[in-house]
Amino acid sequence: MQKNKPVKTAVFPVAGLGTRFLPATKAQPKEMLPIVDKPLIQYAVEEAYAAGVRHMIFVTGRNKRAIEDHFDTAYELESELEANQKLDLLALVRSLQPDDMNLSFVRQPRSLGLGHAVLCAEHLVGDEPFAVLLADDLMAGPAGGLPVLTQMVQAFERLGGSLLAVQEVPLDQVRRYGIVVGDPVDGPRNERVLKVRAMVEKPSPETAPSRMGVAGRYILAPGVFEQIRNQPRGVGGEIQLTDGIARLMRTQPVYALQYEGKRYDCGSKEGFLQATVELALKHPEVGEDFRRYLQGLKF
Ligand code: G1P
Repeated sequence: MQKNKPVKTAVFPVAGLGTRFLPATKAQPKEMLPIVDKPLIQYAVEEAYAAGVRHMIFVTGRNKRAIEDHFDTAYELESELEANQKLDLLALVRSLQPDDMNLSFVRQPRSLGLGHAVLCAEHLVGDEPFAVLLADDLMAGPAGGLPVLTQMVQAFERLGGSLLAVQEVPLDQVRRYGIVVGDPVDGPRNERVLKVRAMVEKPSPETAPSRMGVAGRYILAPGVFEQIRNQPRGVGGEIQLTDGIARLMRTQPVYALQYEGKRYDCGSKEGFLQATVELALKHPEVGEDFRRYLQGLKF
């Protein structure tokens, strides 16, 4: 029996400048960069929708209009496609806005950090558990298995509290992540779910308490807002989400799920290229030809 409230709301912090992809991101949001034929933000929204989320809240900034337009009706395009009987494409374009999906947009007026971005959505989230998805992290569920946020929602329904998606990362990369340390919930032989004991943002390899890094998927209890509001600035002078969760842990349980599937760090060029190649290979339209093309390349 489900004992915890369902997760109906997701927050997408999309106000970042995307400096690592300049000049591509000079005039367009980094979340609109496509992997094969879909922008990053759409992968994340689809993952949330598949997990049962129906209210998508985007925390945007200047130069992010394209994200709003992407999920809005495109009258001219749609009537052209209709007139030209391109009904497959018309259905594809319309599928971006299912009738039961609600969108909200709120601005983050200054780049004060991820915690601050999440706090900007507080009045729209209300007193409910909510998901946070960082679109830079493209999460592919295992072949034939559940998408990552769906795995998390199922674990959250069992555990309650708050839940973070984690994966083991190389020691020389711990300073890119929030790092957690915790104890297995389901006994020592099953380390998939941990009860988090400590959490620190971007530690050095020398001080990292473990190699368990947080991927960009969270389910958070609404109590985190109060923590973020009252916390001092953290690493890089920013209001860090990690710090808010670490404070929340003093009074409420926080769990970590070692998800099944693969994360592509599309905030880096390397991860972006890996996602492009691997998703292209799986793409129903171009996959087969692309595989042949790659096999014919001489390295
Ligand atoms: C953010 C979080 C970090 C998390 C990471 C996952 O960092 O602050 O805790 O591990 O996302 O991608 P960023 O990548 O924005 O520097």
